[in-house]
Amino acid sequence: MRIDHVAIAVNDLKEAARTYSAALNIQNVEYERVESEGVAVAIMHLENGRIELMEPVGDASPIRRFLEKNGPGLHHIALETDDMDGEVDRMESCGMRFLGKVRAGSAGTRVTFIHPKSLHGVLAELCSHPK
Ligand code: CO
Repeated sequence: MRIDHVAIAVNDLKEAARTYSAALNIQNVEYERVESEGVAVAIMHLENGRIELMEPVGDASPIRRFLEKNGPGLHHIALETDDMDGEVDRMESCGMRFLGKVRAGSAGTRVTFIHPKSLHGVLAELCSHPK
């Protein structure tokens, strides 16, 4: 498994992207809207993973509820695997609880989430990229 990205919930995507790209000395920021998850995302590539800033889109966005409750900050870490179904089975057998089934994420990925109660308070995404 590899760290794929670290996702941070923000109130103002443009402003946060300016701050992070200056701090990390990153020139290229990709923007993407993931309607199914109710977010607009700014993606910054590091040598060994990405930082994704997420701003809520629409009133039903789970990120809006997160921001109301917690304010901006770390939302989830994402772990990448080449064997999504095998890893879900293996993790379930060692007691991990998942939030929903494996589903389509952004850019052709497949994703599911591990309940933070299973990982000492950290929400973790499990993802696989198209081959
Ligand atoms: Co993610």
